[in-house]
Amino acid sequence: MASFRRTHTCGELRESEVGQSVTLSGWVNTYRDHGQFVFIDLRDRYGFTQVVFEPGRGKELFEAARELRAETCVAVRGVVGRRLPGKERHDMPTGLIEVQAAELIVLNRCPTPPFDVSETPGVELANEDLRLQYRYLDLRRPSQQKLLILRHQMIRAIREYLSADGFLEVETPFLGRSTPEGARDYLVPSRVHNGAWYALPQSPQLYKQLLMVAGYDKYFQIARCMRDEDLRADRQPEFTQLDFEMSFVEQDDVLGTIEGLVARVFKTCVDVDLPTPFARLSYDDAMLRYGSDKPDLRFGLEIVDCTDLAPATEFTVFKSAAKVRAIRVPGTAEKFSRKQLDELTEYVRQFGAKGLAWIKVEAGKLNSPIEKFLPAASQASFRERLQAEPGDLLLFVADSEDVVCQSLGNLRLELARRLQLIDPSRKDFKVAWVLDFPNFMFDAEEQRWVSNHHPFTAPQDADLARMESDTGSVKAKAYDLVINGYEAGGGSIRIHNPEVQARVFAVLGLTPEQAREKFGFLLDALKFGAPPHGGIALGLDRLTMILGGTTNIRDVIAFPKNKQARDLMTGAPGLVESRQLKELGLNS
Ligand code: AMO
Ligand code: AMP
Repeated sequence: MASFRRTHTCGELRESEVGQSVTLSGWVNTYRDHGQFVFIDLRDRYGFTQVVFEPGRGKELFEAARELRAETCVAVRGVVGRRLPGKERHDMPTGLIEVQAAELIVLNRCPTPPFDVSETPGVELANEDLRLQYRYLDLRRPSQQKLLILRHQMIRAIREYLSADGFLEVETPFLGRSTPEGARDYLVPSRVHNGAWYALPQSPQLYKQLLMVAGYDKYFQIARCMRDEDLRADRQPEFTQLDFEMSFVEQDDVLGTIEGLVARVFKTCVDVDLPTPFARLSYDDAMLRYGSDKPDLRFGLEIVDCTDLAPATEFTVFKSAAKVRAIRVPGTAEKFSRKQLDELTEYVRQFGAKGLAWIKVEAGKLNSPIEKFLPAASQASFRERLQAEPGDLLLFVADSEDVVCQSLGNLRLELARRLQLIDPSRKDFKVAWVLDFPNFMFDAEEQRWVSNHHPFTAPQDADLARMESDTGSVKAKAYDLVINGYEAGGGSIRIHNPEVQARVFAVLGLTPEQAREKFGFLLDALKFGAPPHGGIALGLDRLTMILGGTTNIRDVIAFPKNKQARDLMTGAPGLVESRQLKELGLNS
């Protein structure tokens, strides 16, 4: 063959090319030796093409084809032909044609791969640690490639949308001062200044605020962020934000811009029209109705407060609890056996609940271990409050506000899983803003107030006067974007008044000296004519997960860390030479 350079990709050929001589290159996805013919599905990131080798084309070529194995890298020249009638594959774009091979170059052989790359139906996905160790093979899997392509399309749509709207992309440092996002910093020792440390950014928060002071009123950045925190299915130590900030704006301006952007991303990436404006929910309402500040709104099962009905019962657990709340599970009384109800009780115990009271509603009576504690009037009021119909199951938790929210919020999700209320194959996206977060939370361990978002979040104007006297009641001009139960983004209007900023630092227990030492540059900048400003950061890994229908954040990152924060392919984190430590002044 004159050259192994391809004329087409493996996803490109159609009936219109029948009769043409073409060259394809890629990897052997599947291999079938029918004695008379050898068939391979040749794969690259654009798709698959069937290649057929016939003995009539020469013995040498046929024997070479018989040597091919999965993941061998090859180039094939041949003529495009129509597949035999009845052999067409209507589920693949190249399914009407095949390439009848005339020449084969083996570009590189491949030992038997440690796991299946072809994603042939019925072959189980290999263990994740093994796949991460050979990530370059894992990334060849078609479904992996789809996710990284989707990620690219999303980022491209973001850049195009924001650029067209006048936003500037500005980069900010990796080696900086620690920003207070609430997680542990990754620290980098300075060689030039032994004993001093840079922090890798947890987000570009302070830099983007300084860019506002500098007059770059519409900023964005596809920003890598590093946080040394315990990992979960939707958390990585390094992740990517769409970081975003605007000047001369109020909350609705930021929400409106992000709504337009997110709607464009969904349209471009998954062809879904999200209705705008997005639904809005206050934090208090979200906690009350869904037990969570990131509610999954794809199904009902709302939590209903029954605290005021408790005194009329004779059930001490209800009467003595701070809160009594319930979920009505329509038409499922028959579905849940005693054993399953015991399992649900165990399930809520992990969130601190001491029990789970259940009632099966029947036409004339309530079937429940607590029925005997509910006088007739009480039974009627519970029925009414919960709009209970015969056949319904009612589930109650009585405890502190926090435990009730945690346990019923999680029980809601567990019920949706058990009752299969979410169809993962459907493009069902429920998007909402959660607003009016508390500005401060009390940290019981440290016995002090801490910021709910970060210390630069503006308290709501009406609450400013109460900041010192009734700190817990102060709401923030903060907002989270919630999609299908994920916190996809979070942001706020910032404090642009240095006096308010100083008061917030004081409430957080920072002395003026400590505030100066940590954030002096920000306090100074705010004095130099800082404009009102606000912004948000969207978690792009999470957004790709949602768009791509995966629940594992590692699927949407080319080279992720495993749950123990290790890169199993390169072995990072690894040891370094003592000479390097010495230069950094770290050798004792
Ligand atoms: P926040 O800390 O809420 O806000 O982060 C914004 C969004 O980033 C995503 N995210 C993560 N994704 C994966 N792994 C992680 N470890 C991780 N941590 C956060 C989430 C989250 O909603 N500077 C502020 C933004 C602002 O106020 O403008 C910030 O970083 O989707
Ligand atoms: P007991 O009287 O302890 O047998 O409890 C009767 C029912 O009430 C059982 O189904 C318990 O799971 C339930 N229960 C106990 N404590 C609570 C609680 N704090 N909240 C809701 N249900 C509870």
